[in-house]
Amino acid sequence: MLELNRIYNMDCLEGLKQIPDNSIDLVVTDPPYEIQTSGAGIYKQPDKQYVKELNLMKDGFSPEILDELCRVLKKINIYLFCSQKQIIPLLDYFVKEKGCNWNLLTWHKTNPVPACNNKYLTDTEFILFFREKGVKIYGEFKTKFTYYVTPLNQKDKKLYKHPTIKPLEIVENLIVNSSREGDTILDPFVGSGTTAVASKKLKRNYIGFEISEEYCKIAEKRISETTSNQIELPEIEHNVPQRQFDWLDELLGERR
Ligand SMILES: C[S@@+](CC[C@H](N)C(=O)[O-])C[C@H]1O[C@@H](n2cnc3c(N)ncnc32)[C@H](O)[C@@H]1O
Repeated sequence: MLELNRIYNMDCLEGLKQIPDNSIDLVVTDPPYEIQTSGAGIYKQPDKQYVKELNLMKDGFSPEILDELCRVLKKINIYLFCSQKQIIPLLDYFVKEKGCNWNLLTWHKTNPVPACNNKYLTDTEFILFFREKGVKIYGEFKTKFTYYVTPLNQKDKKLYKHPTIKPLEIVENLIVNSSREGDTILDPFVGSGTTAVASKKLKRNYIGFEISEEYCKIAEKRISETTSNQIELPEIEHNVPQRQFDWLDELLGERR
């Protein structure tokens, strides 16, 4: 029997099979991307450590995992970081087959990898959000933008040694919008533990799986250094001049 507030060093498909039906409130995950990592810019250098590590997580994931996620969720309520190539199959699965509502959120990186030979920069990452009818969204005006503009956090990347670490503040924002204190959040592809750290900070329970022993240890250490005392979300810069909301202030009759 699996325990809450633990990360398991195992294949997530094996782990998911041990989670009971209808027991998870929210999934926030960042599965292996389906991307091409050769041909252009930095990817022409297969010996580079960054390219080697990225090659470990470029082959996507089994669709059987999606069936398991739907089984363990009380209601479908799931955020998936994904590559452009994964958008259509994920929409087919969750919207066509499961009839979910959806949003496409984006993270615009201000310091992308310099690979741009005959293609656009990979400076935008996608986050697909699917929810079944009846699933609530909480949060407030400032947490409900559908885009984030932040640099790749090189400090966290070096500190936690994961090549595709996601910004903690984005994951916290998603969790605030789609769960309550005490809820249980699952991440089947833990990496350096960003979802679990955000869950712990925000007083949610977490459970997760990570196939690499090394990343699993990093995640466990990072989680152990986290305390559950967060009161306010960190501000996320959306680069929107305040004056664009003057008309809204007038309408609401209140000044910001
Ligand atoms: C894109 S990374 C997640 C990064 C994470 N969001 C973070 O901020 O650190 C995906 C992770 O899934 C792991 N992984 C790949 N296949 C897996 C599997 N079948 N079961 C569990 N983990 C797996 C990889 O080792 C990798 O660390």
